[in-house]
Parts: sequence; C-alpha cells; structure tokens
Amino acid sequence: MYRTKTNGELRLANVGEVVTLAGWVQRTRKMGGMTFVDLRDRYGITQIVFNNEVDAAERSSKNANIPTGDIEIIANKLNILSESITPPFTIEDNTDGGDDLRMKYRYLDLRRNAVRRNLELRHDMAILIRNYLDDKGFLEVETPILIGSTPEGARDFIVPSRMNPGQFYALPQSPQTLKQLLMVAGFDRYFQIAKCFRDEDLRADRQPEFTQIDCEMSFVDQEDVIEVFEGLARHLFKKVRNVDLPEKLDQMTWHDAMRLYGSDKPDRRFGMTFVEVDDVLKGTGTFPVFNEANYIGAICAPGCADYTRKQLDGLVDFVKRPQVGAKGLVYVKFNSDGTVKSSIDKFYEPAVWQQLKEKMGANDGDLVLIMSGDNANKTRVQLCSLRLEMGERLGLRDKNKFECLWIVDFPLFEWSDEEQRLMATHHPFTMPNPDDIPLLDEHPERVRAKAYDFVCNGIEVGGGSLRIHDGKLQAKMFDILGFTPERAMAQFGFLINAFKYGAPPHAGLAFGFDRFVSIMAGLDSIRDCIAFPKNNSGRDVMLDAPSPVDQSQLDELYIDVDRERLKAENKI
Ligand code: AMO
Repeated sequence: MYRTKTNGELRLANVGEVVTLAGWVQRTRKMGGMTFVDLRDRYGITQIVFNNEVDAAERSSKNANIPTGDIEIIANKLNILSESITPPFTIEDNTDGGDDLRMKYRYLDLRRNAVRRNLELRHDMAILIRNYLDDKGFLEVETPILIGSTPEGARDFIVPSRMNPGQFYALPQSPQTLKQLLMVAGFDRYFQIAKCFRDEDLRADRQPEFTQIDCEMSFVDQEDVIEVFEGLARHLFKKVRNVDLPEKLDQMTWHDAMRLYGSDKPDRRFGMTFVEVDDVLKGTGTFPVFNEANYIGAICAPGCADYTRKQLDGLVDFVKRPQVGAKGLVYVKFNSDGTVKSSIDKFYEPAVWQQLKEKMGANDGDLVLIMSGDNANKTRVQLCSLRLEMGERLGLRDKNKFECLWIVDFPLFEWSDEEQRLMATHHPFTMPNPDDIPLLDEHPERVRAKAYDFVCNGIEVGGGSLRIHDGKLQAKMFDILGFTPERAMAQFGFLINAFKYGAPPHAGLAFGFDRFVSIMAGLDSIRDCIAFPKNNSGRDVMLDAPSPVDQSQLDELYIDVDRERLKAENKI
C-alpha cells in the first residue's frame, strides 16, 4: 500500500499510530541534526521529522494554521516515489507565478489550494444540481457535439468531415434545437451538464468552450420554468453559501432595467439608480450640451461631495476611456455646509441645482454625476459603467452579498449594425409575447419576447424562453429574421419537420455553470473554476492549441490553407 492515511487527516487522537503517507514535498527545513519535511497532497499538509532526538509524536512547536498542526510524524523510512525538478513558481496561496506562467504549467497551478478548492466547489455544485433535478423528475440526456449550426448569436466552431469531404460539422453553441426535439420525443423534463462552444470575443466571464446546466420542460408556462429554476438557485445558495434567497425573486422588465440601470443585467447590491433629469436641465440654462441632448441621466453618489479635483478628474477620464466611450461627465456637489459646486456652475441659476437636488433625492454631502447624449440607450450604457465604477470605488460590490433577480419582457428582436438586419435577441425559437403577435408584421422591433434571464450581482447567470411550437409561427420568425424559406428549410428543416408531429408547448433555460460556480466562489474570472481554460486569445498555452496540422491531414480533408493571404494580412 502506498499510503494508509492522507496528509490532511491526522490529529492528536492518532498519536502513537504507525502510518504511511505519500505526497509532494512542500518545504524542507534543517534544524540542528533534524530535518523537517512538509508533505502535501490534495487533503492537506503534514509535518514529518527526520533524525528526531525526542521520542514524542506530539509537536513541540504547534502550527495553529493547519488542521494537522498538533502532530508530527517521526520518520523511520523514506521512499522516493518520483523525482521533481524545481517548479517554475511557488505552490502557495500567494504564488509568485504570473498568469501566463500559471496557465502554461496549469497542472502545477492546480496543486494550489485556491484553484483546487474552486474545482472541488464545481464538483459539489454539479452533484447538488444533478440530485436536485433528478428529484424533480428531470432526465439527463447527452446530445451530440458534432452537429450542424445552432444559432445563439456567436460564430460556430466548425469541424471538417473526412468521410464527407468538403463538408463540416458545427460544434453546438448550446444543445438548443436538440433539447427541443427531445420535447417532441416526449421526454418532458430534460437536463444536461453540457459543453457549449462559441467563437466570440472573450472576456472575464466568457470562454470559447464552456458548460451549461441546460434544461427543457414540456407543458409549462414561463412562471413554471421560473419557479423550478429559482428553486434550484435557492437550493444551491443555501447548500453552498448558507445564503437564503428571498421567498420570491423580483422580476424586472428589460425596459425598467435599461431605464434604471442602463443594463439588462443590473447589479442590485447597491442603489444609485438612474434618474432622468431632462426636465430639470434641458432648456433651463445655457449649457449647450444639455440643451441639445435627447437624454440626460444622473446618479447620486451618497457622501461623495468631498471628492477632490483629482478624484473627479479620474471619473472624467474613466468615462472617456474607449471601453466607455463618453465625451464627458458633469458633476454637482451638494456640500455638507449647504453650498453647491458644479462643473457647469456658470450655465445655471442656483435654483436649478435645488430642483435637481429634490429630483435626485440628494442630501447635503452627496455628489450627483450627470451624463447626456443623443441616444438614450447608448448614454444609459455609459452611465451604467460609471455607476458600477462608483459602486466599486465605494466598496458596494461585496462578493459575499448576493442579489438575484429575473429580467423579463426582453425585446424579441434587436437591430444588428453589422448584419444590417433584425436579429433574435435570445434565439430564433423564442415565443413572442402573445399580446404582441399582431405587431410582428408592422413593428417587429416593438414585440416583446417570452424570455427571461437570471441575473446575480450584475452577471447574466442564465437565460431561457418559451419556445415557438407552431410550425407556421416559426416560419414567420425565420422570415422576419431574413431567412428565405429554402434557407430556413436547409438549416432547420429537421426542426420544422419535427413540429409537424405534435410538438408540445415547451420552454427551458440554461444556466452558465462556469459563471454560477465563479459567483459562488467570489472569483473575478470564470477561468479560475475551469481546470484547463483558454486565454483571452482563445489559446490553450499549455497544450499550445490551436496549432497547424500536418499537410497530409489537410490533404485527406481536401483543405488548403491560404498562406499567401495569411502573410498578406500579417497573420503568420
Ligand atoms: P444563452 O446564450 O443565454 O442561452 O446562454 C445561457 C448561459 O450560458 C452562459 N454563457 C457563457 N458562459 C461562458 N462563456 C460563454 N462564452 C458563454 N456564453 C453563454 C451564460 C448564459 O446566461 N440555448 C439557450 C438557453 C435556452 O434558451 O434554454 C442559451 O444558450 O451564463
């Protein structure tokens, strides 16, 4: 036997036992004739002492920082199982390894407590989810990875087929169409912890390959789906964080979310909601920017009237950053002594500031920050960045506080500048709000969707919708989305045909599993809860993938790489 105990389990009660341990040497120290070795494995660290002169297994110098800190092992035999060269960074909670190095040697990074704990949490959550959904009658079904396109708004990863040269599979952006077919098949309640693939620009909460808790139900309405998955979320928060979500989560319309937070995923851990102040500031003074604006919105930062010039300039710089893209920012300080100071004092009578104060519900000591623009939603998105930045600066985005809600009544379509056409906000299979169906022909942009997102702490954790189960309505959707009947048939014929055989009313949702785990663990990036993640350029730096393949492999697939073009475009 390699070991009789792990390095995390020995306590005072074990004193006197003869044990065999195995693991990695974390640290060695020499003191006089004695050598101390900290032996580490997944379970913990145990101190071993060699050449001990005192015959006691209880430690003279106890280490209160580790659970095994009361005991030490007096070695009588050492066996080297495997040799190690010195790792490129320290295997400690605060490692000296930078991001790139840690990713290149991810198997060493995974030895660190912090990263290992995230994967343990991920495992625990997966088990909780499986059991919960099994309890509720959901059946786990695996769907294929080599499929055709499933549009979710990103580009597909495609895979060439050797047996069908010149033809390609697409990796699923989600199992969306397949789970709908499972409903036609009568499975009634499906779930899957499913790998999804999307070729899109990466961010802290996006990976090209990620995992969904993907679910679908038959004979249900929006509220039924919301109830089941709110239940799952409540169960997870209770079990994992001992947090009680409210009895019933708030549901906020997309419209209100945009109006009050400038975002369809509002962070409600703090207030500072938007107030529209056009009526107070437009045409009531001589500030041309406001007089020409179509939207003027403001937030009130409590207790920030004492911000220094430097701090205010910092905020102006913040909103001017390309990521935010605003032209500027106006401030009004309602000082504690009752005086008012604004960056645009000279354009307004003092009475206007009093009106503003009232409208904002501001108190003495507060700072009001104002942004304006031609396009209300665009300005709101900029103001949202500022609100989040203020929340950050004021320490209001507490990782141990959880504010979850549903966003409902999304618009069914959104205009794409890139494609110059209407696109499905959620996906093309989403049911329009029945009340808005008469608007489909004339005003599709005004149609609301039967779609809902689960948002926690400003992050979209999940999303779903009621599905169209009527072939004619689905055909109309494809038509509005600019698909000719032939193209719709070529791409989605399997679904359109399936719907001819009695498709039940159905609806579903998918939680982003990586995002859910990272919120529970308080992580800044979903990478930290993925064993082998990709970097921001979509590369696995450890495997060095993607990489070129042998010409013979390409030949077999009838594929040529256009090296001239790669060179011309500086891609190699
Ligand atoms: P949606 O596209 O909203 O819906 O995706 C569901 C959830 O998946 C997570 N997610 C991601 N996580 C990490 N990296 C990514 N690149 C990424 N993209 C999405 C998010 C998101 O809320 N088929 C529908 C669901 C349905 O209608 O049932 C779908 O995929 O947390």
